[in-house]
Amino acid sequence: MASRSPRISFLLLPQLLSLLLLPWASHARDAISPGQPLRGNETLVSAGGGSFALGFFTPPGSNNTYLGVWYARVSVRTVVWVANRAAPIRGPLDHNARAALSVSADCTLAVSDSNSTIVWSAPPAAGLGLGRDCTARIQDDGNLVVVAAAAADGGEGERVSWQGFDHPTDTLLPGMRVGVDFESGTNMTLTAWASPSDPSPGPVVAVMDVSGDPEVFIWNGDEKVWRSGPWDGVQFTGVPDTATYSGFTFRFVNSDREVTYSFHLAPGATIVSRLALNSTGLLQRWTWVESANKWNMYWYAPKDQCDAVSPCGANGVCDTNALPVCACLRGFSPRQPDAWAMRENRAGCARATPLDCARAGNGNGTSDGFTVVPHAKVPDTTNATVDFGASLDQCRRLCLANCSCAAYASANLSRAQGQRGCVMWYGGLEDLRVYPNFGQDLYVRLAAADLDSISKSKKKVQVITAVTVSIGTLAVILALIGFFFWRRKRTKSRLPGPNKWSGISHSRGLQSEGTSHGDDLELPIFDLETIAAATDSFSTDNKLGEGGYGPVYKGKLEDGEEIAVKTLSKASTQGLDEFKNEVMLIAKLQHRNLVRLLGCCICGEEKILIYEYMANKSLDFFLFDKSRSMLLNWQTRYRIIEGIARGLLYLHQDSRYRIVHRDLKTSNILLDEDMIPKISDFGMARIFGGNDSEINTLRVVGTYGYMAPEYAMDGVFSVKSDVFSFGVIVLEIITGTRNRGVYSYSNHLNLLAHAWSLLNEGNSLDLVDGTLKGSFDTDEVLKCLKAGLLCVQENPEDRPLMSQVLMMLAATDAASLPTPKQPGFAARRAAAATATATEDTSSSRPDCSFVDSMTITMVEGR
Ligand SMILES: *[C@@H]1O[C@H](CO)[C@@H](O)[C@H](O)[C@H]1NC(C)=O
Ligand SMILES: *[C@@H]1O[C@H](CO)[C@@H](O)[C@H](O)[C@H]1NC(C)=O
Ligand SMILES: *[C@@H]1O[C@H](CO)[C@@H](O)[C@H](O)[C@H]1NC(C)=O
Ligand SMILES: *[C@@H]1O[C@H](CO)[C@@H](O)[C@H](O)[C@H]1NC(C)=O
Ligand SMILES: *[C@@H]1O[C@H](CO)[C@@H](O)[C@H](O)[C@H]1NC(C)=O
Ligand SMILES: *[C@@H]1O[C@H](CO)[C@@H](O)[C@H](O)[C@H]1NC(C)=O
Ligand SMILES: *[C@@H]1O[C@H](CO)[C@@H](O)[C@H](O)[C@H]1NC(C)=O
Ligand SMILES: *[C@@H]1O[C@H](CO)[C@@H](O)[C@H](O)[C@H]1NC(C)=O
Ligand SMILES: *[C@@H]1O[C@H](CO)[C@@H](O)[C@H](O)[C@H]1NC(C)=O
Repeated sequence: MASRSPRISFLLLPQLLSLLLLPWASHARDAISPGQPLRGNETLVSAGGGSFALGFFTPPGSNNTYLGVWYARVSVRTVVWVANRAAPIRGPLDHNARAALSVSADCTLAVSDSNSTIVWSAPPAAGLGLGRDCTARIQDDGNLVVVAAAAADGGEGERVSWQGFDHPTDTLLPGMRVGVDFESGTNMTLTAWASPSDPSPGPVVAVMDVSGDPEVFIWNGDEKVWRSGPWDGVQFTGVPDTATYSGFTFRFVNSDREVTYSFHLAPGATIVSRLALNSTGLLQRWTWVESANKWNMYWYAPKDQCDAVSPCGANGVCDTNALPVCACLRGFSPRQPDAWAMRENRAGCARATPLDCARAGNGNGTSDGFTVVPHAKVPDTTNATVDFGASLDQCRRLCLANCSCAAYASANLSRAQGQRGCVMWYGGLEDLRVYPNFGQDLYVRLAAADLDSISKSKKKVQVITAVTVSIGTLAVILALIGFFFWRRKRTKSRLPGPNKWSGISHSRGLQSEGTSHGDDLELPIFDLETIAAATDSFSTDNKLGEGGYGPVYKGKLEDGEEIAVKTLSKASTQGLDEFKNEVMLIAKLQHRNLVRLLGCCICGEEKILIYEYMANKSLDFFLFDKSRSMLLNWQTRYRIIEGIARGLLYLHQDSRYRIVHRDLKTSNILLDEDMIPKISDFGMARIFGGNDSEINTLRVVGTYGYMAPEYAMDGVFSVKSDVFSFGVIVLEIITGTRNRGVYSYSNHLNLLAHAWSLLNEGNSLDLVDGTLKGSFDTDEVLKCLKAGLLCVQENPEDRPLMSQVLMMLAATDAASLPTPKQPGFAARRAAAATATATEDTSSSRPDCSFVDSMTITMVEGR
């Protein structure tokens, strides 16, 4: 790389020097020619980037020697291609220094052992004229190519006689194809190693099946293990999370000449990624994470119960989010009801009413119709036919015209408009699954009788819904009118003054010092002696932690009541305003899920707040600790989520003022002895005036990982930015994992994006904290997860209000919740990365507040 750059930075010199000092560097070559074989003790290194090496190796735990290609710049030896996998050279590498890879004058590539016996060879391309100079070269993309120089008579240019990329072993590198090339007659399949120490071909293979609409199958011996589903123009329908990949592009060619799939790196992407077939039967995408010095599993298949091939049999539908996972398609019933009841579903389902085939052959004569199955991974296409020219409408007619046609779907989704091309299925619909969000529409043919019963039941539901909705709306309107009048009356009699900010900026309440029964602020004033006595003169033994203001102490009043004493450190420059802010706010707020302020003290220089003491510290103290998180069972977590939601609803809507907390995070959720959550730390909170719905601030305070994108980026905050933070907390409670903000969760995804893609795949339960050991209420988890993801949507308008969140939690089932859009920050990841200063490294301290390392504070002043 560096040597190609005209300006070599002096910073690179040490690296260049060290490269030169490496043993192979001085005589590293990238090609062999006739008479100059590659010996057992040598390697070729690709020119250009030096990314790949070719040489002999002995896998750990083996006694054989093989010729292979591996990453030259990845510190974990990773072999991506093997030549003589089925014909090993006996004995380990150090006994085989005289083994050789050679290329002959006629372009035959051969591997020979120490006795010069040829164990493996690749023949030259047919029709290659004689008298050409042949070389074999390892290219920087990992391809081993045999190149014939231009023909002596000048009639033909340089020609690739043979290449390793046409003969994949178990790994697909960027640019490598899997599938069939009809022109050259090559069938590119992946075949897993027999075991990690044995590169010989094992029983696990991945093959492009071209008999119907092409799709990739993984076989383990005679058993189909996984099916990719057909290419829908954008992705394989069985790999629906392709949309979340960044840095990759995908290519699927379906023509007379070839049917192949390949992946490529987006221009400029420096990802090191490979798709490998594991001997255990998994197809895995790995990406190299340099900073962690390891391969990270980016994707894998099969993933879940529904990924197994046809777990629900013909005409069954598999849905991981349903219980039980298998159901019959509408208009179908189990073929073997007894077995089906025992959840042995492979016999599948049969039509309740036979199709009307009387007038088959004439599409407009039959009474049959179609029902839509949305979000489908379409059925096995082995026996399906594809018509890339037909529109969906034509397809419908074609399907009706053939009595054995059971369903159709669009064949190409890459162009929304017109959706040309369609697939038609005949006979049973095998291996159909549905996703909550990804997937495409499948049109299943039904007899008129079954369609009628569907539309009738739909109508019924619609009527009931309409009636319910109108009654509900009426009730809500009446309630709102009542509330409006009640509030007007109340507001008139209670409001302190025209300007609601005055209470804060002029600290009205603090003027009532000594008159602890003021109208606005019924807050006892403590004196310093009382507090000193309670905290043992602020002894370090009683220190609970260090807040943003200063230290927090535990204390005990004379009457035995335990208190938390929060001091405002003199050094803190921004402390006083926030102190007043907090006093004013909390004094006015009384709610079961807000921490209660017992009093305050402004004793000369000292400014102190006295709170009720929370026996169980804060939520992060439990949640992110392996052993303590076991104490949080799902019921407790669910109650905590509800509690936070109620507290926040009170702040946002139900208290006298509309308050935005601005710094919600797990360390600000305190837990009392009954594990009831209490929101604390209002130092950053803002009261909103009657008509404001959002405020723009130049001073962004808060904690990364919890801050809504519009607040972190643009300084705009509203109740919806609190809703975002709430959503993050909910996801953290479900997973027991910190959202590291813009930092990677599984290399390329943060917690929010990860949760979103699992939800859309229907694998959300994979997210749930392992310490719950599977004991949780699935529906509650799904409700919380969906609600959480709705709260972290990119666009603030899309996020629900806290009142709506509580309604979602109370909903009868998760399926009735709307589908969340992509979370914020997943979309803006790149932009956010530049604004990040520090990572959330907070330990489990109680009441960690806002001015420590995990907080960013931007420009001062309003
Ligand atoms: C490899 O071994 C041969 C003889 O066995 C020796 O001549 C040659 O120098 C060795 N090459 C390297 C790079 O060690
Ligand atoms: C390799 O060969 C050596 C010597 O023949 C033998 O002791 C050893 O067990 C073998 N290892 C394996 C993994 O077969
Ligand atoms: C090479 O030949 C010798 C003698 O024929 C034999 O003993 C030895 O096993 C052979 N080595 C290999 C690697 O085939
Ligand atoms: C490709 O190879 C696989 C396995 O070797 C085989 O099952 C399949 O039929 C072949 N496909 C074609 C088109 O030759
Ligand atoms: C197969 O998968 C397992 C589990 O993901 C992994 O540890 C192992 O390294 C993989 N094997 C190969 C040969 O990559
Ligand atoms: C069926 O529909 C096609 C096109 O709409 C029309 O041309 C044809 O006459 C119709 N056939 C019958 C039997 O109605
Ligand atoms: C395809 O048709 C063959 C022959 O009728 C049948 O055995 C096989 O089960 C069918 N496959 C699928 C996936 O429907
Ligand atoms: C219906 O489709 C099947 C499968 O393509 C085909 O074999 C059969 O001939 C078709 N029947 C009619 C009546 O077109
Ligand atoms: C799908 O449509 C896109 C856009 O028109 C086109 O480029 C692509 O070739 C189509 N794919 C197939 C399989 O027809």
